[in-house]
Amino acid sequence: MPFSKIVALGHHVPETVITNQYLSTVMDTTNEWIVERTGINERRWVDPTKDTVANMAAKATRMALKRANLTEKDIEFIVFATITPDYFFPGSGVLLQRELGLEGIGALDIRNACSGFIYALSTADQFIKSGMYKTILVVGAEIQSTALDVTTRGRNVSVIFGDGAGAAILQASDKPGVLSTHLHSDGRFAEELYVKDPGSSRPREIRQPEQILDTTDFKVVMNGNQVFKHAVVRFMEVINEALAASQMTKEQINLLVPHQANLRISQFIQQKMQLRDDQVYNNIMRYGNTTAASIPIALSEAWGEGRVKENNVICLAAFGSGFTWASALIRWI
Ligand code: COA
Repeated sequence: MPFSKIVALGHHVPETVITNQYLSTVMDTTNEWIVERTGINERRWVDPTKDTVANMAAKATRMALKRANLTEKDIEFIVFATITPDYFFPGSGVLLQRELGLEGIGALDIRNACSGFIYALSTADQFIKSGMYKTILVVGAEIQSTALDVTTRGRNVSVIFGDGAGAAILQASDKPGVLSTHLHSDGRFAEELYVKDPGSSRPREIRQPEQILDTTDFKVVMNGNQVFKHAVVRFMEVINEALAASQMTKEQINLLVPHQANLRISQFIQQKMQLRDDQVYNNIMRYGNTTAASIPIALSEAWGEGRVKENNVICLAAFGSGFTWASALIRWI
């Protein structure tokens, strides 16, 4: 049975920088409040006339392909993680397939929010281990800014989220790169962080456009305290689960790349696990929380900065809407 390994990474973020200063001119918030509670200084928001989720994913993919001296034609299958697809259906996977000119290849969409990239990576890993494919594109991409309530009413959510895309190329290998992946969920907490519409769970009269447009049900609802409380516990559990599966200790982690939910969550985990600064990668200060895109953007940047080296042990971990949480332990070969 072959193993899988990540052979290349790429990312793309929109040009427009939205600073905390700017947000404080359109809603009742301050730079100090945002930095103190989230660690975010700025985020990128798209110009929707220029960027789409699928074309940002294509830009991230082309960066990864170039770094690995591969071409589009090497890709045999796409796994696309997003909760903000271009359309309600079909998923953005097919739009990326079209954009890359990869006639007829399969494209699978994953909707596991902040854990989406690790769920996608795990899925691709299984396809490679089964021998079905040798080269798979795994992407996470989000445009969240167009759905945010950028007024004081939506300030607890809108200051946190950003847009962007990250891509990883996974290939078959005779040695294990992806050592293990661990996926979890607890739907009892589904409504603690969710967007209701356009969901199918309401009577037809309520789902008519004129009724729906009157509501705020297209907006993100988040119980920030609950999310924070569960996140810190689940992050640590799932990181320890990944280490235990390979009989490793936290000292052996060269780089932990946590989903960039909130800098305070990452710092809490780092402190509780007693990890050194050089063992943890954070870039939420510059991009905010980009949901499924956050891990591949961070991993791609970390690789670009020389923080991911041959033979390193890399741990990815995520927590988010669902609740879902997940981890992956990778040896960089
Ligand atoms: N600017 C200024 N004040 C704000 C604000 C903003 N952007 N957003 C909320 N507030 C206010 C609230 O209205 C509230 O005011 P009140 O005390 O007068 O009612 C006060 O700040 C405290 O709100 P609260 O929601 O209790 O703040 P908090 O300390 O829990 O911080 C979060 C809020 C969202 C930053 C925090 O809960 C969090 O980070 N949770 C995790 C969220 C997360 O990671 N989500 C992504 C998961 S993948």
